[in-house]
Amino acid sequence: MDRSKAWSQPSALEFYSKHRHEASDLYPSEQVFLPRVLFPGAKVLDIGCASGGFFNIMRSMEPAIDYVGMDIVEPALELARNRYPEARFMLADGFEIPFDDGTFDLVHCTSVLNNEPRYQELLPEMYRVSNRFVLTDMRLLKDLAASGNSGPFYYDIKFEGDSQEATVPYVVNDADEVVNYLLGLEPRPQALRATGYFHTVSPMARIPFSEVCMAILLIQKGNSATDKTLLDIQDLPLNFAIDPAFT
Ligand SMILES: C[S@@+](CC[C@H](N)C(=O)[O-])C[C@H]1O[C@@H](n2cnc3c(N)ncnc32)[C@H](O)[C@@H]1O
Repeated sequence: MDRSKAWSQPSALEFYSKHRHEASDLYPSEQVFLPRVLFPGAKVLDIGCASGGFFNIMRSMEPAIDYVGMDIVEPALELARNRYPEARFMLADGFEIPFDDGTFDLVHCTSVLNNEPRYQELLPEMYRVSNRFVLTDMRLLKDLAASGNSGPFYYDIKFEGDSQEATVPYVVNDADEVVNYLLGLEPRPQALRATGYFHTVSPMARIPFSEVCMAILLIQKGNSATDKTLLDIQDLPLNFAIDPAFT
């Protein structure tokens, strides 16, 4: 089943129309960076906005934002437009963002890379259209690549009741690979910050691990003069092996 069909299933639409519209719905780790990267007049792109909950959450933190939500599921966007006519919601894919380089102060993308294995294609596109921040989340495990157990893994969407409506990838990435990849983005990031914790894997996931580290990543874009990235990732309960080229 393709990605947009999976996320158009009635239980997914219903879940995201009922949940994640209020700041109190967020995980504690999701509340750390978001209020710090919003400011009056901030131009925000929210990739994978579903039915627009993050518009409401962000404006509760900073009312004067200039928000665009993007998703690949038209029925979710219709719910968003009906509920929040004051915001802009558009059908577009994060792999081909229809905006110029540096258009947004904040590119926000949560709970998308958790089901999308191609982070090395999606993240550079998000970084391209940002002029300041990219805020996203990923599941990480140390030494995953070497474990011989790196997937692919899958997740059965059954938000309400027991019937399985769709299957999407359940993506866990190798922690060192991700951090070194982010440090190698061009132009070199000015800062990479992270927070998160180990969390029990959802029973809807088919994966041979009981816990994964849920990481919130804040990438602050650098410019051609940036020669060193400020690394503030010690809040994550993982010991990273950073390529000496970045230290
Ligand atoms: C799990 S929901 C997350 C909704 C919201 N961001 C949140 O954190 O509550 C994932 C959403 O991302 C959308 N999505 C998945 N891949 C996408 C892509 N490449 N571009 C834009 N939206 C995408 C899906 O259609 C779905 O609505």
